[in-house]
Order: sequence, then C-alpha cells, then structure tokens
Amino acid sequence: MISALNMQFGIKGQLEFVEDAPVKGTPPDTRPAGGLGAASGLVVAEINNAQGCASLCLQGAHLMNWQPKSQAVPVVWLSRDARLAAGKSIRGGAPVCWPWFGAHATESGFPGHGFARTVPWRVIESGTEPDGATRLTLRLETSDKTRVQWPHDCNLDLTVIAGNTLRMELATENTGATDFVIGEALHTYFQIGDIGQVRVTGLDGCAYWDKVGGSNLRRQEGGISFSGETDRVYINTGAACVIHDDELNRRIHIAKSGSLSTVVWTPWDEKAAKMGDLGQPDGWREMLCVESANAIDNLVKVVAGTRHTMIVEYRVESI
Ligand code: BG6
Repeated sequence: MISALNMQFGIKGQLEFVEDAPVKGTPPDTRPAGGLGAASGLVVAEINNAQGCASLCLQGAHLMNWQPKSQAVPVVWLSRDARLAAGKSIRGGAPVCWPWFGAHATESGFPGHGFARTVPWRVIESGTEPDGATRLTLRLETSDKTRVQWPHDCNLDLTVIAGNTLRMELATENTGATDFVIGEALHTYFQIGDIGQVRVTGLDGCAYWDKVGGSNLRRQEGGISFSGETDRVYINTGAACVIHDDELNRRIHIAKSGSLSTVVWTPWDEKAAKMGDLGQPDGWREMLCVESANAIDNLVKVVAGTRHTMIVEYRVESI
C-alpha cells in the first residue's frame, strides 16, 4: 500500500507516505516510548519542502504537525501522549469534526465531534503550488458504520496546502437528491509558550455560548486572556483571530471563510488531569485551541447538488 501510494501521489523531496512516522519537528526526547513510533498500521503523509514541514495521518485526515522554516518550534501542537491507533482520535494537531460538532443532537451513542476524525480517508490528489508549497487532498471513506450515523450521499474532502503558511479546505459536497445539515470544525491545537501569558484578539463584541458551568449566552469584551477552564463557541463571526504569544515571540494569524463560529478552548488543570492524554503534568499549558467552525446557531444546510467549503489559513508573524 505504501509503495503504491508513493508511486501515485509521492513527490520526490517533498511528500512521502510512511507507516507510523514520528512527527518531524518534534524533538526525539519528547516522543513517548511506544507512542507515535509503535506499529498501528496507520499511514502518515510527511511533507517536507523548502518552506517547512507538516504531517497528516490518513486516518481522520488528521494534521499532526506544521512548522514553517521561520519557526524554531512547531505551530501546531501535538500532545506528548498522542497515540496512533486505529479508530481512535489523536490528541492534538487538527482533528476534523464532522458532520456534527460536540455531542450529537439526538443520539447519545454517536461519537462526540462526529466520526470523520476516526475513520480512514484516501488520497485523491497531490501536487506542488506555484510558490513551492505542497498540496494534498484526502477524501473520507464511507462504510456501513458511517452510513448508519450519516445516511446521506456526499463527498467530504480535505485539501491541505503546507508551506510558509498552512491552508486547509474542508469541502462537503451533497451528491444526493435531498438537502442535509452539518456542523463542523477544524479543531486546531496551537503550540504556545504558556496559556497564562497568551491573548486572543479578533472576537471583541461577539456573542458566545459559554460552555463552562452550564451553557450561557454572553458577549465578548476586548481580547481574551486565560486564567481558568475556557470553552466558548463564538457565533455569527467570520472574523480573523490572532494569538499573541510574547514567550515564543510570535503572533499566529487565523483567517477563515465559510465559517461563522469560532471555538476557543483550554481545559485547565482539573479537566486536563481527567482527560489524561494532554502530556502530564502540564502539557495543557502549552496548547490553545482556536477552532474555525460552524456550530450551534451556525449549522450549514447543504442543498442537494451543491458544495459547501470551509477554508482556514494560518500564518505566523515573528515579533
Ligand atoms: C472542544 C470542545 O472543541 O473540544 C470541548 O468545545 C471539548 O468541550 C474539546 O472538551 C475536546 O474534545 P475531545 O472530544 O477531542 O476530547
């Protein structure tokens, strides 16, 4: 399988498919023994071009790393406790949440954030952009199991373009005769210096559902800084956001289209301890999720025969 993939979609000196690859840009001493290097049978696309590197697991179309050459540490965070395992989501990176975000509206037995992040995807295209960035498109594989949870005719494609910037395009095509409604998110974990010192701007004045201690509708005033568990779904906003990180001397710019929700999440100590896979004891301090989404008030109706695309683009500015 690997050699066939490399023959059809590999790009010499730029894109290679490997089994259970350790993530480039992650120092060897932070990799768990028996973790990413253990044999799970999963395949990872390793991108390494003149502008930077990225890794994408074919299961879940799960981006695990992105690090432009300008940066000494990755921009996308992957937990030290991340494991590659068939049917399990990887902690960190950029999970694809689809076709619903959070809990399913009516079926408590269906997986949180949908099934797209835990099922196989297949490669359908690869190439080099005019500026030298590497492009890779994956398509979700449907199965009897996915059809039980989502009985609609559709294609879900993720295109990743990795270079100095990272662009991800999540396209839902309704190939059937009836309309359907989706929720979705590119649930990106960003690597930060320390959660206590970063600030997020871009959401001033936005309404948000505050999921900590119930579900209350509030309004953001000014920038966001963090001193406890934060789990918010900002609604009706297509605005770009910036993560200001003085410790890592950088600003991460997050621009998007086709997305009207932005989720900001940090678990803080108690929830992180309960989750247990965030890199004990304090890996959670080095990550922050700013997720481009369509959730709650912003679910998307995909009319029969049409396509809806959510696009995010990340750029890093050194300061
Ligand atoms: C966030 C949610 O998007 O994802 C949080 O807002 C949730 O409530 C978090 O805890 C992680 O979810 P999971 O399913 O990957 O553990």
